[in-house]
Amino acid sequence: MKLLLTGARIIDPAQNIDSRMDIFLEDGKIAKTGINLSKSIKSKNSETITIDLDGMILVPGLIDMHTHLREPGFEYKETIASGAAAAVAGGFTSIACMPNTNPINDNRSITEFIKRKAAETALVNVYPIGAISMDSAGSKLTEFWDLKEAGIVALSDDGNPVMNAALMRRAMEYAFSLQLPVISHCEDTNLSADGLMNEGYYSTILGLRGIPGIAEEAMIARDILIAEFTKTCVHIAHVSTAGSVRLIRDAKKRGLKVTAETAPHYFTLTEESLQGYDTNFKVNPPLRSEKDIAAIKEGLADGTIDVIACDHAPHGRTDKEVEFEYAANGISGLETSLGLSLNLINSKILTWPELIVRMSLYPARILNLPKGTLETGTDADITVIDPLLKWTVDVQAFRSRGKNSPFHGRQMQGKAILTIVGGEIKYDGR
Ligand code: DOR
Repeated sequence: MKLLLTGARIIDPAQNIDSRMDIFLEDGKIAKTGINLSKSIKSKNSETITIDLDGMILVPGLIDMHTHLREPGFEYKETIASGAAAAVAGGFTSIACMPNTNPINDNRSITEFIKRKAAETALVNVYPIGAISMDSAGSKLTEFWDLKEAGIVALSDDGNPVMNAALMRRAMEYAFSLQLPVISHCEDTNLSADGLMNEGYYSTILGLRGIPGIAEEAMIARDILIAEFTKTCVHIAHVSTAGSVRLIRDAKKRGLKVTAETAPHYFTLTEESLQGYDTNFKVNPPLRSEKDIAAIKEGLADGTIDVIACDHAPHGRTDKEVEFEYAANGISGLETSLGLSLNLINSKILTWPELIVRMSLYPARILNLPKGTLETGTDADITVIDPLLKWTVDVQAFRSRGKNSPFHGRQMQGKAILTIVGGEIKYDGR
């Protein structure tokens, strides 16, 4: 397919491009970018399809480095195909999927299964993340080299922390030698101790066991120390507290190789939303306070937080429509992440290029993917955003099987209207 996309504002931070231009896609690659390409391209390529994108923003395909696809094992929550369909509808062209399936992705055959299933059914590029420890149980390392050969792009026990510091040290050393990033779910489970929401005034009023901010911060501090001691790197998942932002900022100032992500719910919602005991707001780490939200925004603005990741955690009705204590943690996020993140531009916390860095370029860099840019010759993965489109979140319209979103009914401005993967239109919401 040959596609000529004309008239959009093209933003590609990797090349320092932010201007109104045309872009030509051929054989799945980006063939040319420039002003007024119409005449020269059309005279040479009669079969070219031209799409006028006046008023639209065209960016390198968005990459989500923290998605939970539930296949194998929990297909009623999400399959690789349904998660990928949700991804394109949300503007994502690549997703990296966490290993907490059933069985856990702790061996080559599960990684190969995910890759095969993705190749057969998925609309996007799917990159498996392997477990750090067998069964993510925290006692014995998986076979990193074998998993890497099978196709994982990172290691994580996400959903569970690696509580044993010695094991984490070995994991970071070994992974570093293989150039595999370690993504750390930072939670000291002795401190979080089956808590259900942020510890503070609201947990007391609501009578729900609290999870203190230090449950996250103590583990981040530990992982920073291990990265420093071993001269390796670490990526901190789903940052939710002001203290975490401070620790990561200090580590970066000292030149340590620490990167971090947050998710849209951590800069959008506070613990106050739990007052109705609605389990759609139950997530781990928990929603925090206004003070924490302000610090997360500051961290995004000053570059302390490198990435916005969805932490797409789809669940079935039977997981969520139960007593608060028994409800599963997580938010189905692929289809609302961009809309919520665009609020950061409207509120002048990030510029457009800064947002695209956090949702495409840096995830690509951290995962060592040859993506996140519109450079000539790279894969034609492209997201086209209508920045003014007003829409209302409707979970029944989600492509994800997970309808568990606290954002149902919320008004949004800005949406992906065209998602192109490898030069092919995979989502057309025009
Ligand atoms: O809310 C969450 N859901 N946090 C996690 O760490 C795991 C995730 C899931 O797998 O549902």
